[in-house]
Amino acid sequence: MPQDSATKPLIEVLSGRRQAVPPLWMMRQAGRYLPEYRELRAKAGGFLDLCFTPEYAAEVTLQPIRRFDFDAAIIFSDILVIPYALGRSVRFEAGEGPRLDPLNTPEEIAGLVTHADFGKLEPVYEALRRVRRELAPQIALIGFCGAPWTVATYMVAGQGTPDQAPARMLAYRHPDAFAKIIDILVENSIQHLVGQLKAGADCVQIFDTWAGVLPPREFARWSIEPARRIVAGVRKQLPNAKIIGFPRGAGGMLPAYVEQTGVDAVSIDWATEPAMIRERVQPRTAVQGNLDPLALIAGGAALDRAVDDVLENFGKGRLIFNLGHGILPETPIAHVEQMVARVRAYKG
Ligand code: CP3
Repeated sequence: MPQDSATKPLIEVLSGRRQAVPPLWMMRQAGRYLPEYRELRAKAGGFLDLCFTPEYAAEVTLQPIRRFDFDAAIIFSDILVIPYALGRSVRFEAGEGPRLDPLNTPEEIAGLVTHADFGKLEPVYEALRRVRRELAPQIALIGFCGAPWTVATYMVAGQGTPDQAPARMLAYRHPDAFAKIIDILVENSIQHLVGQLKAGADCVQIFDTWAGVLPPREFARWSIEPARRIVAGVRKQLPNAKIIGFPRGAGGMLPAYVEQTGVDAVSIDWATEPAMIRERVQPRTAVQGNLDPLALIAGGAALDRAVDDVLENFGKGRLIFNLGHGILPETPIAHVEQMVARVRAYKG
């Protein structure tokens, strides 16, 4: 076997081969809980400067790998780089999260450009090439995009909201205009994921952080159907592309999501009922998750118990150990080390 095709445990699981010790990484593993991240973030200036300076983005991508020896690195970027490349104004205010120019009338939506300027995303691809050169061959590199529904919630409201009411309302009142936003995001997300895979990503993840606020009919239309089109569109260009879906909060809609999108793995949040996943999801696809990020902050016996629950619930099938959502900035580094040691000691 040529050296560059060394086996990657994460890709093995995505290819249908369970690993005795599940591969492990954390959503948002590059971030504010790491002092070396905070240092480079201060040096870079703005958050988008950090994302779009390949040297910096590559460095923060590698920081958690050096510390914890995870099985995967996720490229440091953001889901809002697509609206940015579509010419929307995207700013990250310190301590407040993202701010965009709201897009909430059919007239404004009619003026939305259909093709992103992918030149603006070239630094993301360059950062991937740099990371791939430096990463050990057995560690997988993950690219990503936001799911159209979740990206649209920020584009419509211009910021995060607790229940995404502005986007839900627009989708009820003006479904055709809303569908236009989704269609534009589907096409550009396909191209962005293909660009990342060609630049060295081994697999990609679609983050649908706000899928769980949708009633079943809307979930099928705005979460499942766009994800299905993205998976099909990427595989049309790259037939072996490995794709993880994360429809957070999907609950009982997970079997339909998995069946209809054809993802190679589904990431599940910590509230998901485990027997349903074992019986109706894991036989079809790999499962990624689902430690409660608060258990990671708590540490001690509560963390050990929570880690063991994930392993007992899903370790007999194909599992990628992860959190149920991103790691929180106040998480102690020692607790991440405790989690890693316990997962790696699993005798599956
Ligand atoms: O996981 C990783 O380590 C890779 C990098 C990554 C970031 N954002 C970096 C980031 C990934 C995969 C994302 C995805 C993302 N971005 C999502 C979906 C996943 C999720 O966590 O729900 C969403 C909804 C966004 C949009 C976004 N970006 C928000 C709402 C915020 C502000 C909230 C926050 O955590 O500060 C961001 C900023 C952001 N993206 C930060 C990081 C590390 C914090 C920026 C900082 O350093 O101040």
